[in-house]
Parts: sequence; structure tokens; C-alpha cells
Amino acid sequence: MAKESESHLKGRHVLLCVGGGIAAYKALELVRRLRDAGAEVQVAMTAGAQHFVTPLSFQALSGSPTRTSLWDSAAEASMGHIELARWADRIVIAPATADLLAKLANGFADDLVTTLCLATTAPISIAPAMNHRMWLHPATQANLATLRGRGVQVIGPEDGPLAEGESGPGRLSEPEDIVAGLLAANAATPATDNALKGLKVVVSAGPTYEDLDPVRYLGNRSSGKMGFAVAASARRRGAEVVLVAGPVHLPTPAGVKRVDVRSAAQMHEAVFAAFPADIYIGAAAVADYTPRAPAANKIKKSNESLALDLVRTPDILAEVAAQTQGLKLVVGFAAETENVAGYARGKLVAKRLDLIVANRVGVADGGFESDQNAMTAFWQDGERVFAPGPKTRLADELVDLIVERLDA
Ligand code: CTP
Repeated sequence: MAKESESHLKGRHVLLCVGGGIAAYKALELVRRLRDAGAEVQVAMTAGAQHFVTPLSFQALSGSPTRTSLWDSAAEASMGHIELARWADRIVIAPATADLLAKLANGFADDLVTTLCLATTAPISIAPAMNHRMWLHPATQANLATLRGRGVQVIGPEDGPLAEGESGPGRLSEPEDIVAGLLAANAATPATDNALKGLKVVVSAGPTYEDLDPVRYLGNRSSGKMGFAVAASARRRGAEVVLVAGPVHLPTPAGVKRVDVRSAAQMHEAVFAAFPADIYIGAAAVADYTPRAPAANKIKKSNESLALDLVRTPDILAEVAAQTQGLKLVVGFAAETENVAGYARGKLVAKRLDLIVANRVGVADGGFESDQNAMTAFWQDGERVFAPGPKTRLADELVDLIVERLDA
């Protein structure tokens, strides 16, 4: 294995989910190969998989307890399944049976493995293995198309002799080929080099809450996921990262300094306190207006209507872009419901940004609360369309572009 490739899995958290097929025995070898490539591996097995290989075998090879059930209170106490889903940088399902593909395609979460796959934001790779007729069945192929459409990587299967004495497509790829496939996927979104080493990146993320009175506020539906993923990605590329976060319940990415704020005014203060920096990425959905004077006591209802007296908040992004001292790149976001390119380019110019990332909100399959997103980045003389995918992957691709624009 090439040394450069090894680095793409080095230190990465790989969650191997083993499905119930005869090829499950090959997943044992896969654990060894992943660890040889430098990955930290945890294993989860379906009930079917345990008919073929024991959890203990995987435990011995991975060095961690094998997870087999959602209802194992001892295992849940040490690391809950949602925590495990978050722990993973990548989920690999090998062997992926026809049943598992059907469940994943339809969003089932009726056992540990399917729940993990639904609860994660990590990219998923699957290595299918099954009888060739099951593989070629239109139902299986339709499920695969659905999964591919969601950005799931499919590795194999190979053509050749199958367990039942038949021959055709359906053999699990060899462990070394699965690892090679994972390395290729990670290489496509390089995540752990030092392209940003020595640079300080300030990222704002999440919504802001503007208090009306002690119990009410004006807020918005930003989840903060994109900003957090961008912060994590910049950190993996070697940057020193300060993440100024509005009110969200997201775990702090490893190695990132987090400053929690509530209002636009607090975010403004925290962002400028984090300077000097080299790069500013304004991913927060900052309130444009705030109450002129929040009421000291709860506002009581009286008339039929109520007019709020709101004043503009400072435009943090525009102010950052105006103070160019030492800043190499300023990146803004634009959430639009229509005329995405037009409005985004308008903001690029008006706020004097180097780069603006626009996404369409208010559609069913992307935007604020979704893990998936589709976006386009614009700069003065160019643009890049990002294929729809998980925000974690889009964040990696955006940081790739930032690295490119720094050199431009
Ligand atoms: N932004 C900011 N400070 C504000 C408002 C917005 O830093 N007070 C930043 C956001 O972090 C984001 C970008 O500006 O990077 C969004 O631009 P903006 O013009 O505020 O978008 P909208 O609020 O959607 O504007 P409009 O309602 O006019 O479309």
C-alpha cells in the first residue's frame, strides 16, 4: 500500500457493520487491513451476521467490544449508539446483504446496524455480497440506485463462483480491494493533510436568538451542521480553528476551540475577539433584526395585534470583509429560496467577499435542518457546483475549494 494513501485512513474512525452472509468471514480480514492502514475500527453486527462469525472474533481483531444489539444496556452505557454513529468518520458495511440494502434504501432503523446508518452523518461505503440473482433483481438494483443517489459508495461485488455452487456477480470484494476503494473515496475528499497548517480560521455557525423578553426570542431554523462540518474539516487540514456557535446542540469537533453565543451582538463580539485570523467563514444564520429594547418582564397580551420594534444587527460578515488587515479569505453563505445565483452574486459584490456559498432552502431534500445539502460556490470570475451529498462531504469539498482559492 502506498505511503501517501495510508495517511487517508490514518487515525480515522471506521465503523464496520457486518451483515448476515457467508462472506462475513472475510470481514475479519477486513478489520486487520483497516487497522494496518492506520484506522481505528469498531464493529457492529446484524443478528444474521452472528450466525456466521462470532462477535468475539471481531473483538479480538478490532481491539474494541463488538456491538450486536440496540438493547445491550452495558454497551449503551459505555458508548450509546448515537454516540457511536457520531464517532464514525466513515461507515463500511461488509458484507452488505440484499436485505440490508433494502432497509437502508428505505430508511429502516429496526436494529443496531440500520439505526447507526440512519443516525450518522459520516459517509457510508457498502460492499455487497449475495446470490447473483438477488444482486441482479430489479428491486436490489433500484435500492442500489437510491443509495448511490444519496452519495453512498458501492464497492464491488465481484463476478465469480458463489457459495451455492453457482457463478455470477455477487462475490464480496477482497478485503484489500475494499480498503483500496475506501482510500480512493477518502482521496477524493482529502481530509487529513496539512494544507491549512499555520493558518487561523474563524467559523461562525448556527442561528442567533434575539430576545424579546425573558421567555421569548426571534430565531431561525439553522441547525449549525454545515458550519460545524466546515470547522471540523478545516481542523483536519491542519488549521487552528475557532468556532463561534449560536445556540445548537452539536458536539464540538475534535481540536476546535468553541465559543458559544446567543445573540447577533454576542456573535459579533466573539468573532472580532477571535481575530486576527487568516480566514473567516460566516456560516451562521445571523438575525438581521433584533428588538430595539428587549422587555425586562414577560410581554402580556393586550391588543389584537402587536408590532415589534426591531433594529438592524451589525452585518458581521461585511464588517469582517471590510477590515482586510491580515485576512486572506472571507467566505459568506447565502440561503435563498429563489434566484439563487443572482442573489448570491449580489451579496458577493455588496459585502466584498472572496467566496460565497449559496444553497436553496425551503426545499424538501436539503437546507437548514437536513444532513444533505446541494450548493454552489461563486467567486468573482468563477463558480463551482457541488453535487448533493452529506454536509460532512460538502464541507470537505468546500475546504478543498478554499485551499485552491488561497493559492489563486
Ligand atoms: N451575516 C452576518 N451578519 C448579519 C447577517 C448575515 O455575518 N447580521 C452573514 C451570514 O453569516 C452569511 C451571510 O451574511 O454568511 C448571509 O447574508 P445575508 O445578506 O445576511 O443573507 P440573508 O440574511 O439571507 O439576507 P436577505 O434576507 O437580504 O436575503
